[in-house]
Amino acid sequence: MNIAILGFGTVGTGVYKIIKKANRQTQNLHVKHILIRKNKKPDLPEMTDDIEAILNDKEVDIVVEVIGGIEPAHQYIISALKHKKHVITANKAVIAQYMDEFTKVSRENGVKFYFESSVGGGIPWIQGLERALRVDDVNKIQGIFNGTSNFILDQMHRSGEPFNDVLMQAQQLGYAEADPSADIDGLDVANKLCISVDIAYDLFIKPNKDLPIFGIRNITEDDMAYFDQLGLTVKLMGISHQRGNEFDYVVEPTLYYGDTLEAHTKDNYNLISLHGQTIGNLKFMGQGAGQLPTANAVIQDILDIFQNKEHLKREFKSPFKYRSDLTKHDYI
Ligand code: HSE
Repeated sequence: MNIAILGFGTVGTGVYKIIKKANRQTQNLHVKHILIRKNKKPDLPEMTDDIEAILNDKEVDIVVEVIGGIEPAHQYIISALKHKKHVITANKAVIAQYMDEFTKVSRENGVKFYFESSVGGGIPWIQGLERALRVDDVNKIQGIFNGTSNFILDQMHRSGEPFNDVLMQAQQLGYAEADPSADIDGLDVANKLCISVDIAYDLFIKPNKDLPIFGIRNITEDDMAYFDQLGLTVKLMGISHQRGNEFDYVVEPTLYYGDTLEAHTKDNYNLISLHGQTIGNLKFMGQGAGQLPTANAVIQDILDIFQNKEHLKREFKSPFKYRSDLTKHDYI
């Protein structure tokens, strides 16, 4: 299986490293091209700045898009699908904006579009959600979806250090995005919640300005000390409920009692939960950010394509309407 990696930042490098260190499952994977920026000097033989050459290479089976951002990622994904390449992406921002278009174009061209790594890093969350949906309607989703903000809140809680110092540590560890505002202002959570909601309720919503999104930028050391006195821990949550033809949706800092799993979700970990009629409450915890956990999830998608494993079919036909206050305080 020949793979082209578009972008060679944190995740792209991780994918390359795991494939190079081949094991029994990954030994048939071969990185044929790596797309780098025009002004960057290539330091590996696979590197090129020629996207057309990659797309026109008939030997390339899978394109892994890990450039991030909306454009040119969106155009590259569409072109790759039209060139009948399977596409895997970790880019939650572009999926949240264009999941309906990517799904349609991949289907028209008889290729797959998989994105396990886009939500929850190394956690098999999308796979877990899709499995639950084979039997149940999922009517609640709630999660600590962002590793960077969890690292920041946890570190502020433990050390009493101010927000900006801890943010710098998160960037040095490679958790935060190049522009960390998406991490700390809630947009990254909104993207991941939208992707999860799209799958769970089989509809398509974009994380636009009409949806309520609050971040953690204004939480101070004094707030932290006060929460601590009350035995509470603050977490940045993405939450959605569905009932009948309506669903709600919010991204906001939320206080949890010290004995909950949410309060015990440390470091850059994510904890994402769903509720279904027969499965009840199901919680997934793991490293939601970082090079190798995220790259691991990309490789899982590559192997699913290699082994011909189908993911859930999406129709986006549910007539659900957004409502602001369905069951706001009913946590799972
Ligand atoms: N910056 C993201 C996070 C990376 O901190 O969760 C994983 O999507």
